[in-house]
Amino acid sequence: MTGESWTGEELVERFDRETGARIVVALHSSRLGPPTGGTRMKTYPGEESARRDAMRLAEAMTYKWAAADFPRGGGKAVIAVPHGLGAAARNGLLRRYGALLAELSGRFYTGGDVGTSSADMDVIAETGAPYVFSRTPGRGGAGGSGSWTALGVFAAIETVCERLFGDPSPRGRRIVVQGAGKVGAALIERLAASRARVAAADPDADAVAELRERLGVEVISPEACLEEPCDVFVPCALGGILNADTIPRLNSGAVAGAANDQLAGPDDGMSLLGRGVLYAPDFVVNAGGAVAITGIEALGWSVGRAETAVRAIGGTLRRVLDLAEASRTSTDAAARRLAEERLRRGAAPQAGR
Ligand code: NAI
Ligand code: PHE
Repeated sequence: MTGESWTGEELVERFDRETGARIVVALHSSRLGPPTGGTRMKTYPGEESARRDAMRLAEAMTYKWAAADFPRGGGKAVIAVPHGLGAAARNGLLRRYGALLAELSGRFYTGGDVGTSSADMDVIAETGAPYVFSRTPGRGGAGGSGSWTALGVFAAIETVCERLFGDPSPRGRRIVVQGAGKVGAALIERLAASRARVAAADPDADAVAELRERLGVEVISPEACLEEPCDVFVPCALGGILNADTIPRLNSGAVAGAANDQLAGPDDGMSLLGRGVLYAPDFVVNAGGAVAITGIEALGWSVGRAETAVRAIGGTLRRVLDLAEASRTSTDAAARRLAEERLRRGAAPQAGR
């Protein structure tokens, strides 16, 4: 994606001289509400790839909120950091980022994502920026979003199992989870509790070893997990993993996971359809964390209300699969159509912070 082909509203960029980090805040759409999305912190090969990631992820947030029928707009922040940033320097950077959010005065609200935690949200909010969700409960926030996202992915896996086998229960199904981080680990716990046959892959050997000891899950190599024979392949790591190279090698009945931007390009949804792999669109499946945390913190939802909203992801996915079948299109195209209809209609009348 280039600046010219991006359909977003605004890019805000800062170079942080103290650390050499680059901050990119991509505001994609305020059509349904204030742009809201996580802050991703990682090392990128160059500033253009950081910018591109922010733009793509912000657009995905627009579709995520719309598909979930939630009154927020699409935005995302990327903090591209140099290798080996020390803890003190990182904290200073987060504070200066908080000052930038305060300056934006409500044009962007954020939460956690890859490379950031609830404790980081506490630091960002210390500058006085009130635009930070997902702080720790001790600081008045609703905590991390990972387990909520995992609950939504679990609901999506149930819908996928129902489609493939006529029974929503993942019990006895072989499920391969790529990435055992905040979302992946919480999901693996749920799947293990429901007696699925889970295999997990993560380059962080300690993370998967702990899951093997505690839950008895099988550990497989990150390199081989894409080709592993299974009922459902569950991407919970980084984006772009479904592409012209990997789709022909998939050995699963379905793909349903949390990772943002799983399809490398617009044709990959059709390639999956052509290969007979049921693809559950990422931005439908992974909305649980954003919806629950923002619902609790900005709309005053109870935990029970949030749980109902997140479980509803299973029903939304069912609608998307029906729509795709009826119109003989890819599930990704069907989900986009559903979201675009909501974008055209505008926000439902619900108060937001
Ligand atoms: P995380 O950073 O906690 O976990 C990611 C895990 O993936 C790490 O353990 C990492 O070692 C592993 N990993 C990296 N490369 C891998 C590879 N090649 N093969 C296997 N594992 C690999 O991130 P988190 O929060 O769990 O998010 C995972 C994905 O889900 C990201 O794409 C994120 O944007 C997306 N997501 C997260 C949400 C949340 O609530 N945390 C909400 C919606 C989407
Ligand atoms: N990382 C979340 C996502 O990609 C974004 C988010 C988390 C937004 C928490 C708000 C609150 O969906």
